[in-house]
Amino acid sequence: MLQYFEEQKSGTLPEKYRSLTSEQMEARIIEIKEQLGEKLFIPGHHYQRDDVIQFADAAGDSLQLAQLCAANEKAEHIIFCGVHFMAETADILTNDKQKVYLPDMRAGCSMADMADIFQTDRAWDALENLFGETIVPLTYVNSTAAIKAFVGKNGGATVTSSNAHAMVKWAFTQKERILFLPDQHLGRNTAYDIGIPLEEMAVWDPIHDQLEHEGAIEDIKVILWKGHCSVHENFTVQNTIDVRAEYPDMRIIVHPECSREVVALADDNGSTKYIIDKINDANPGSQWAIGTEMNLVNRLIQSHPDKHIISLNPSMCPCLTMNRIDLPHLLWSLESIVNEENVNQIIVDKKIAENAIIALERMLERV
Ligand code: 13P
Ligand code: SF4
Repeated sequence: MLQYFEEQKSGTLPEKYRSLTSEQMEARIIEIKEQLGEKLFIPGHHYQRDDVIQFADAAGDSLQLAQLCAANEKAEHIIFCGVHFMAETADILTNDKQKVYLPDMRAGCSMADMADIFQTDRAWDALENLFGETIVPLTYVNSTAAIKAFVGKNGGATVTSSNAHAMVKWAFTQKERILFLPDQHLGRNTAYDIGIPLEEMAVWDPIHDQLEHEGAIEDIKVILWKGHCSVHENFTVQNTIDVRAEYPDMRIIVHPECSREVVALADDNGSTKYIIDKINDANPGSQWAIGTEMNLVNRLIQSHPDKHIISLNPSMCPCLTMNRIDLPHLLWSLESIVNEENVNQIIVDKKIAENAIIALERMLERV
């Protein structure tokens, strides 16, 4: 039996950081970055705020950032500007001498919180009772290290929104069914794209420990965990209807964490990197409604004044947990490294990491 909890030292932002101006914080951040040089690596997810992402040594989607952390052996200190599961992944993929920090421990992911390991163990027992050993588990990287370990131990792999199609296809070479955690939408959109009809997909409800499906149980090919992203669920069918009515020539591009209905009505969908590449390659004068997190959409609007870009939902907010990483927390992280305090270090339990890395490597060796 794995020990499912990890040890971590956390803290609350010291008061002194609240009274500093942005200019003071930026100047000190630059100074410490210069001082630490290659001993420091700051990966930043595309959903980070502009004032933070300007200090990232690399910006990327969750797959790119995982690959960069796995490849980096020089940095003794990795300050992950993103959310908790991303920092855990970085800790798992780096060596024992490298330390990973999350500037604010409250930067979680509401989707990752929708599946815990105890629910997963219960679901697995129930599903094995129903289907025997015919299921391979896949987990979106937006999940806890303990769930990644569970997946690794049971022959499965992690996926990101960049490689979900390839990984779901791979999973079907292993077993005849998949359990996809924790995002039902990415799982449904991906399985649908590779030709699995919606009638062959069931939903596992972890709150009531029950399988939701109409039809014959033996027809089920995909079991979707009933989780979702609380940011992307705010893009609706009505938003697509409104955009089509107001801007008939506008293309709609969304992240696959949006619901099946929204993805079906969009012109295109893909990971944050995919969306960025599409906009970068688009012709001047082209029009885009984007269905993803607002820090990224605003950045795309700012950096492409020659294109007409809007958010698919005009009242969208940023991902609030991504937004918890701000200049005071980044500076605090940097100063605590200089002072050898290791504040907010992410340390994944060794036993969990051993199994989780199997799931991550099955993915990384295929993409
Ligand atoms: P990407 O895989 O596109 O980076 O997305 C991660 C994420 O959390 C989206 O909500
Ligand atoms: Fe999690 Fe959604 Fe925020 Fe991505 S946008 S980090 S899935 S809550």
